[in-house]
Amino acid sequence: MTNMNGTVEQQHVDALIGIVGSGNCLSAGGDMTGYTVDYRGIFAGAALAVVRPANTAEVAAVVRYCARHGIPIVPQGGNTSLLGGAVPDGSGKAIVLSLVRMKTIHEVDPQNNTMTLDAGVTLHAVREAAEAAGRLFPLRIGSEGSCQIGGNISTNAGGTAVLRYGNMRELVLGLEVVLPDGEVWNGLRALRKDNTGYDLKHWFISAEGTLGIITRAVIKLFPWPAARAVAFAAVADPGQALKLLDLCKQKADTCLTAFELISAPALALSLDALGEDAPVSGDHPWYVLIELSSGQGQAQLDAMLLDTLEGAIEQALVMDAAVAANQAQAERMWLIREEISDAQTRTGGSVRCDISVPLSRIPEFVQAATEDVLREAPGARMVVYGHMGDGNVHFNPLRPESTSAADFLASHGAAITRLVDGRAAQLNGSISAEHGIGIAKRDELLHVKSRVELQLAWALKRALDPRNLMNPGKVLPPVGSLADAGTP
Ligand code: LAC
Ligand code: ZN
Repeated sequence: MTNMNGTVEQQHVDALIGIVGSGNCLSAGGDMTGYTVDYRGIFAGAALAVVRPANTAEVAAVVRYCARHGIPIVPQGGNTSLLGGAVPDGSGKAIVLSLVRMKTIHEVDPQNNTMTLDAGVTLHAVREAAEAAGRLFPLRIGSEGSCQIGGNISTNAGGTAVLRYGNMRELVLGLEVVLPDGEVWNGLRALRKDNTGYDLKHWFISAEGTLGIITRAVIKLFPWPAARAVAFAAVADPGQALKLLDLCKQKADTCLTAFELISAPALALSLDALGEDAPVSGDHPWYVLIELSSGQGQAQLDAMLLDTLEGAIEQALVMDAAVAANQAQAERMWLIREEISDAQTRTGGSVRCDISVPLSRIPEFVQAATEDVLREAPGARMVVYGHMGDGNVHFNPLRPESTSAADFLASHGAAITRLVDGRAAQLNGSISAEHGIGIAKRDELLHVKSRVELQLAWALKRALDPRNLMNPGKVLPPVGSLADAGTP
């Protein structure tokens, strides 16, 4: 971009500088890398500029300018998408609109149990602000230090507490959105009941910035659960884990907060990365991490967990179990669980699938998908982990130790994705339970969604963004490909 002086591109950059100031409109290649490449370094694009507005009015002014000049916009939060949802394509024509400077928490209302805040507040800061008010904001995902609430909403983030509190969609009461023409929709309502026609906020939740830019939100808070009890248990297979989950629901009822499944190869990756020992000794094929929490006394909760585990041992559902003796041990168990994803990234060579099926069909899914994958790629290691309590597992076959990451992905990546996603679809499941679509899963939708459903999605997209300037190329398979869509 050194010869940009006097060009149309330079005029655009100058105009954008006029809105956000020169320090917040980056156009030198090196300055933009943190915004044009995803955090794992897998999806790399290029941008005309990276623009960092300070407030909603600046976002709207930037969008109005881009709408007038036909400049595509890629909205970006913490840039932690696993599917390339927040980085531009390689054309260099789009701007990245980063919400990173919009970090104000406007109101915490403990009695209404709500927080009103800017889109750029990190999830970690949201949780801390809630805690300072004696409240819980329950969304819990590994990237909380970097990801932003606007991105969490735009992708309908899930994580490890969905079992009890729901996905991000369930945690949003109101939104402010800058629409593709630069108009601002103020839907910042803090109401738990509001039955006044179409619930427009849901259009923008999980749209990944393809319909507008979320600039503020009202989110739900919950009573602070002072007591927490955590256990790690070894189980024979996902079928036993499912029975254990049933027992936990029966014994702990609404105190059951998380129920995470972890395969032995997934645990091994994490333990290697952390240099830790397994919480449960011996070699076991599968593990679960269980968390109960409540505002009641710790002793009561500990007793509930022990009673549950004793019942599980009596029924031979668990082979061995370890209960965290204190909060530090509980944190360590969680760290082992949350490290798996990053450990995988560092190891390289795993095919990431994020599927859900009806809970009752998880064992059947895991068995069938494992057999499919081993036929395709003998020796692949079954890194399987995730949110069994929600019927959602990350089913991520990993290269055999003797095969390089590049060889494994080139030879088997696409086939494994098709096999695993195909199994999920066959069991009435989803090919993306919580990570979204971005660019990476976009065309996979053609196999699992009907033409009718995809055309309906395009009808909404066209109505709001007729010139296809908002995060173009993401989420929706190109119109020209819809004729090939499956008709399940
Ligand atoms: C997790 C992320 C990968 O569950 O969704 O760790
Ligand atoms: Zn997950």
